[in-house]
Amino acid sequence: MRWQHRTNVYQLCPRSFYDSNVDGIGDIPGITEKLDYLADLGIETIWLTPFFSSPFRDFGYDISDYRSVAPEYGTIKDFDILISKADKLGLRIVIDLVLNHTSDQHPWFKKSVENDPIFKDFYIWHPGKRGKRPNNWLSMVGQSGWHWSRERQEFYFAQFLPFQPDLNWRNPAVKNRMWEIVRFWLQRGVKGFRLDIINAISKDQHFRDNPRDISHIFPSDKNPNLPFTSSLYTRDLPESLEIIKELRQLVSEYGEIMLVGEVSSSPEKGKLYLGNGRDMLDLVFQFEPVSAPMRAGRMANIFGNINNLLPEPFMPTTVFGNHDRFRRISRYHGDLDMAKLNAFLQFTSRGVPFIYYGEEIGMEQAHLRKGSDPLLKKAKLLPRILVDYIRRRHHESLNRDECRTPFQWDSSSNAGFTDAKTSWLPITKSSIKRNVHTQTLEQDSLLNLYRKLLKHRKQNPSLRDGSFKILRRNSLIETNFHVMIIERKTPEQTALNLMNFSREPQKVLNLPENPVSFLSTKPSRCSISEQIILEPLEGLSIIYEI
Ligand code: NOJ
Repeated sequence: MRWQHRTNVYQLCPRSFYDSNVDGIGDIPGITEKLDYLADLGIETIWLTPFFSSPFRDFGYDISDYRSVAPEYGTIKDFDILISKADKLGLRIVIDLVLNHTSDQHPWFKKSVENDPIFKDFYIWHPGKRGKRPNNWLSMVGQSGWHWSRERQEFYFAQFLPFQPDLNWRNPAVKNRMWEIVRFWLQRGVKGFRLDIINAISKDQHFRDNPRDISHIFPSDKNPNLPFTSSLYTRDLPESLEIIKELRQLVSEYGEIMLVGEVSSSPEKGKLYLGNGRDMLDLVFQFEPVSAPMRAGRMANIFGNINNLLPEPFMPTTVFGNHDRFRRISRYHGDLDMAKLNAFLQFTSRGVPFIYYGEEIGMEQAHLRKGSDPLLKKAKLLPRILVDYIRRRHHESLNRDECRTPFQWDSSSNAGFTDAKTSWLPITKSSIKRNVHTQTLEQDSLLNLYRKLLKHRKQNPSLRDGSFKILRRNSLIETNFHVMIIERKTPEQTALNLMNFSREPQKVLNLPENPVSFLSTKPSRCSISEQIILEPLEGLSIIYEI
């Protein structure tokens, strides 16, 4: 099995990881300094969110120079040093690749606005119809995606925010330029790319209106379309798939390179981007578990469906959070035992686990009234009562800064993130206990459980490479609906992963005898027998040799 399907990935935001030059902002040398921490944790691959030059109106997802490091994060030389230290530690670096759009401050866009002969067709332009917008295409954030350029006297299209104009992928020159950028980073030693909203890059060339979809009311992780709309002509066009095939061919000149896609569509459509399992992306994110309640039946359903959809030669991802979403532990009201069970589920299930920085120490969602996230401006247009309700009830926030606060290294005033007086975003209140230093010393901390789980996964082939099956209640092993059991198997080994999702002890009967090892989320477990009582919220992984 290729490494892209066997690894684990730690997502970190350079701005918030570690500040090495006392300006309150994290940077590339800061990451290099802290690589040992990640290696020691058991991390194998690191995904860096955008660190390129940018006006930073969308956390760097508005790039103005794809071949540079933003001055506040360091230099290209610093990046090379990061890669070489990562290499020494056996860590792979994967970076964000934003192909759908650039910043409106990118020289290509500026020249396109001026109708420069080389760049005039680099973006999606349309004169409009009798002074009106060309069609009904919406941006992903809810308003028309068309914006008027006074200078060019035409509309341009933006899938996301107005300052992020979409590139025109029907223009071969755009593709060539982007492929040069891809080569630039591969030559520097990056081992892969996370492809931002990759299913949106091609749009209908006839500019047809998207049809209404009256059956769709609430956007969800399964169907992120806006209410009553479809995205027939703006997402998942066959041309996007062709572009990805071409990208795969290009990167394969550099060996086994990870391509992981953010596909904002249903899991079934997401699968299209994996092609035959080799010729397109290695992975796409499945986001359903992010917002699902931690209940045995629900999780068994979701993980069962994902694994049915993606048998070999495909591989799912397991994701519970990222830089856009409510912090994982805060969905469980900060409950450490639940966070431990949740980590157990992630690392014993089948799929490449993605850990968002800070999850391993239980970093909580901040509650900020201010922030730099452009979506916050939109939130301000909504009634406060509704925003609070969405937060309380659905654990979603329209201020993504709240999940992007500085990493917590220790319990000092700026959590060891910076020696500057203030950090770019405030440190969360939880930092007193939820920090690396404190939790390293505490034997049964969440952090030490992450270390153990990652080691357990690495040491046991069944957990990394094995088949996946949810044992239903009619299997030989007897238990009840509060307990979820995932069986993972290779020819030599079986892992039984038992999870008690309830706050009561639960009995499990008829377990096979003579396991070779086990790992529990509860320190009190010291032996395994044929009958056991799982503690409340216990996760227990038992390994048998065949
Ligand atoms: C998806 C990214 O995850 C998000 O942070 C960003 O704002 C949009 N794409 C636009 O690039």
